[in-house]
Amino acid sequence: MAVAFAAVATTTRSILLRDVDSRVSGLLAQETGEFAHFEERGVDPATGRPFSDPGRLLRVFLERQYADPDEELMGLLAGPSGADPAKLVQDREIPVELPLHRDAAARRQIFASTASTGTLHRAAGDVRWAKVAIARPGGEPEAAFVVAFHPGREQARANEVFRILLAICGVALLLTTGIAWVVAGRILKPVRLVRTAAAQLTEQDLTRRIPVRGHDDIAALAETFNAMLDRLERAFAAQREFVDDAGHELRTPITIVRGHLELMGDDPAEREETIRLVTDELDRMSRIVEDLLLLARTERPDFVTPEPVQLAELTADVFVKARTLGERHWELAEVAEGEALLDPQRVTQAMVQLAQNAVQHTVPGQSIRIGSQVLDSRVELYVADSGPGVQPQDAEVIFERFRRGTARRGTRGSGAGLGLSIVRAIAQGHPGGRVLLRRTEGGGATFVLDLAREEEHMTGRHT
Ligand SMILES: Nc1ncnc2c1ncn2[C@@H]1O[C@H](COP(=O)(O)OP(=O)(O)OP(=O)(O)O)[C@@H](O)[C@H]1O
Ligand SMILES: [Mg+2]
Repeated sequence: MAVAFAAVATTTRSILLRDVDSRVSGLLAQETGEFAHFEERGVDPATGRPFSDPGRLLRVFLERQYADPDEELMGLLAGPSGADPAKLVQDREIPVELPLHRDAAARRQIFASTASTGTLHRAAGDVRWAKVAIARPGGEPEAAFVVAFHPGREQARANEVFRILLAICGVALLLTTGIAWVVAGRILKPVRLVRTAAAQLTEQDLTRRIPVRGHDDIAALAETFNAMLDRLERAFAAQREFVDDAGHELRTPITIVRGHLELMGDDPAEREETIRLVTDELDRMSRIVEDLLLLARTERPDFVTPEPVQLAELTADVFVKARTLGERHWELAEVAEGEALLDPQRVTQAMVQLAQNAVQHTVPGQSIRIGSQVLDSRVELYVADSGPGVQPQDAEVIFERFRRGTARRGTRGSGAGLGLSIVRAIAQGHPGGRVLLRRTEGGGATFVLDLAREEEHMTGRHT
């Protein structure tokens, strides 16, 4: 704004000065024009004939003219050579420091000048002048009519306007600065609020929220920020819960092992029994630790590395491995043909987990079917058992970490509840992948790995 104001003020000044300039030029031209006309056509009122004496001509003309306050009209008559030209002036006062009729040097300079118009720069102020020389037949001018204009006062007026303009601009600038300061402060206040709220947040206290007011961008920012805090709070809560659960799960076997060891007597049979129980618990513990480590790795981008895999081969491998898990009626139900893009190790791992669960929820002799099929652009790999199935209220929660179903499990001891969360992590590690729970026809649970056959470029990694 300062630059704009300065530009406006200086432009206004130069326009005003140019106006003064052109007005003066116009005036000079008009006066000289009038004199030239009078010289050519005018007649002496006393004689009724054209003027013969330049002095008389100038005197008569000057008597009839009215001049501007800053304007001087005068006639100059050449004196004897070397002397200053004699002057004929109108009888009036000029409101300038040094009028031309008192400045002999300037008069001489103008009279001697060969130009008919010009500007005289004097210490006492510039003079714009124009003259009409009345030439002697010999050539030397014997007399001249001179119009002089003192533009000092008009220029001073333009400069005055310029100064006033500058003063007004300065005040306006101060005012706008003040207003901008206040308004910017008001606009930025909510931002400051958001910032201080963010600064006060700590890992321990994520409960603070930023107050949302109005419907502007700042309110939207605060809402976004609050939503982010909600997610953070949930994530931290989930993490705490996970650590609590993990601690709890690991503490149980430790307590059991310690209890057994403390109570162990000298009886060899009892010792053997204790060692068996302790080893069992330690096995369980190390399985939990392994599962936890695996789950921690699921967040890594290289947890699942898909590659082209022959589905028939993969299904057969899974079947062979699952069969060793227990004495069941294992059945290879159907085998999909063709290739799919998936991580064979991880998928086998998930299928074995599912088979393990199926074994845990069935008794020897019950049937477990394993198979794969291609549906449009998707691949389904499934493990279907004929056990008790999953209670409807458990269907969602059993995929969570450390969550076990409410129904009494089958023959084996209790697991940690990590198996299905690993399966889900593997399924979701594949782009567009998921794990589904269905009912087996005739009773039992069917767990399905539902994966995209091709890499879906537009779907991100689901978590
Ligand atoms: N085939 C199944 N039939 C019935 N219920 C099942 C079956 N598979 C899983 N469940 C239920 O889902 C729960 C969670 O299973 P998950 O595999 O996650 O844990 P887990 O088997 O109890 O322990 P882990 O696998 O860590 O040893 C089980 O406790 C069980 O209630
Ligand atoms: Mg399991």
